[in-house]
Amino acid sequence: MAEQRLQKILAAAGVDSRRNCEELILDGVVRVNRKVVDELPAFADAEKDAITVHGKRIHAAQKVYFLLNKPKGVICSNRDPQGRKMAIDVVGTAERIFCVGRLDIETTGIIVLTNDSEMANRLTHPRYGLPKTYVVRVRGLIQGETAEKLKRGIWLAEGKTGRASVKILKRSHKESSIEITIRQGLNRQVRRMLAAVGLKVKSLKRTRIGRLSERGLGVGKFRRLSKAEVAYLKKV
Ligand code: URA
Repeated sequence: MAEQRLQKILAAAGVDSRRNCEELILDGVVRVNRKVVDELPAFADAEKDAITVHGKRIHAAQKVYFLLNKPKGVICSNRDPQGRKMAIDVVGTAERIFCVGRLDIETTGIIVLTNDSEMANRLTHPRYGLPKTYVVRVRGLIQGETAEKLKRGIWLAEGKTGRASVKILKRSHKESSIEITIRQGLNRQVRRMLAAVGLKVKSLKRTRIGRLSERGLGVGKFRRLSKAEVAYLKKV
């Protein structure tokens, strides 16, 4: 593993928050290979270096990977001053996990949670463009021409969205549903794309992230990713 900021290693190992770990370092209670480190920035390799806090050895945090089918009303953030329920609390593990990317509070569907920031950074980087599939219920009848517009890309504030795959699953005057696959992860991208073509979203659910699917995972349920799934995400 590469060198990382010392406070990040300590926080990932469950010592305290990153901010408080910075204080511990400045207080001179942290040693790397027996030498006191009391200046920032400070770097270390969690796997190779012997790191202690108050003389107690810190071990590199075990990497954990979960797939959650997020219910409505749950947010993808590690702090919420409004006290809303957070995805990390639904999973409730001792490791300091976070969501890879985001689903809106009103969106349901699958999201990966992990403490592996290297993998998370790669997966959310626009360059890697992992396809994400959503099923959207919209009000009214969707026209084929509207689906074509979504496929070609939509101008949003950030620029034109990339090509999307769009499949109409159901059409009626009352409501329609489509499956849309995009490779970017702009904020509220699907909702904004649909608003731009005049469609009102009734519900939005993410059903697939690359090869990962919601299959067998009820809303509000989570599971650990298998070794093969982790290997796949690392390779993406
Ligand atoms: N697009 C949205 O609009 N919302 C989400 O939660 C995910 C993608």
